[in-house]
Amino acid sequence: MKVLEAKFVQGFMRMANDGWEQGWHERNGGNLSYRIRPEEVESVKEELHPGEWKPIGATVPTLAGEYFLVTGSGKYMRNVTIDPADSFCIIELDGVGENYRICWGLVNGGRPTSELPSHLMNHEVKVIATGGKHRVIYHAHSANTIALTFVLPLTDEAFTRELWEMATECPVVFPSGVGVVPWMVPGGRDIAVATSELMKQYDVAIWAHHGMFCSGEDFDLTFGLMHTVEKSAEILVKVLSMGGKKQTIQPDDFRHLAVDFNVTLPEKFLYEKQ
Ligand code: 13P
Ligand code: ZN
Repeated sequence: MKVLEAKFVQGFMRMANDGWEQGWHERNGGNLSYRIRPEEVESVKEELHPGEWKPIGATVPTLAGEYFLVTGSGKYMRNVTIDPADSFCIIELDGVGENYRICWGLVNGGRPTSELPSHLMNHEVKVIATGGKHRVIYHAHSANTIALTFVLPLTDEAFTRELWEMATECPVVFPSGVGVVPWMVPGGRDIAVATSELMKQYDVAIWAHHGMFCSGEDFDLTFGLMHTVEKSAEILVKVLSMGGKKQTIQPDDFRHLAVDFNVTLPEKFLYEKQ
């Protein structure tokens, strides 16, 4: 089968375009990766032509030998569906998880996203935490979530609680909460380590003054998670702009919701406010 005809590649392209249409991907902002199933790799094998091994910039032994779809560094999400072979690639990792090689795509040159260390370290943590269920890591520059990082305390507790309060479905969609990474230089191993540490407990990590990372089982769930968090952030921006909350959902309301919706909400997010 041709790479561009494969269902997993079409799902990847649709998600990139959906993010573009949401306004989350100015210029080359944001990036997307998908851990490809062995049978999916097999289905497109005839089109895979491995290039040179290059260092990942992180060590991910759990992912040794795996293949990933990943957007290119400096490439625009808005071009993913228009010029796929120029915009993203399929990479293979070596037997120790230290190097990658491009097997398809980026036909006009280039390399995988500069956030490859964060993507792969997050994938590694999620393979371990979910028994391999999570396959998608998504980074976007979602404006409302970024705006909140200028006014809310940069803590997991503050962000989780405020986002949960803004939409009743939020604690059901992300019951474990969201983590917050303080401002750090992007594109390297240090921010990858900090983010993947949070991904051990959460499916969402917010990068202060930068954007968001989400992890999920498939394209729909991961896009939906990003969309839900960002919409909640948008509501909070509106509420704050209208002078702030006059009433809200209370800790005991969340406890009742948790029982009816069969989710566990950590008590650390249900603190009493002054
Ligand atoms: P890339 O173009 O290298 O993917 O970088 C975009 C970005 O959002 C960096 O955080
Ligand atoms: Zn970014």
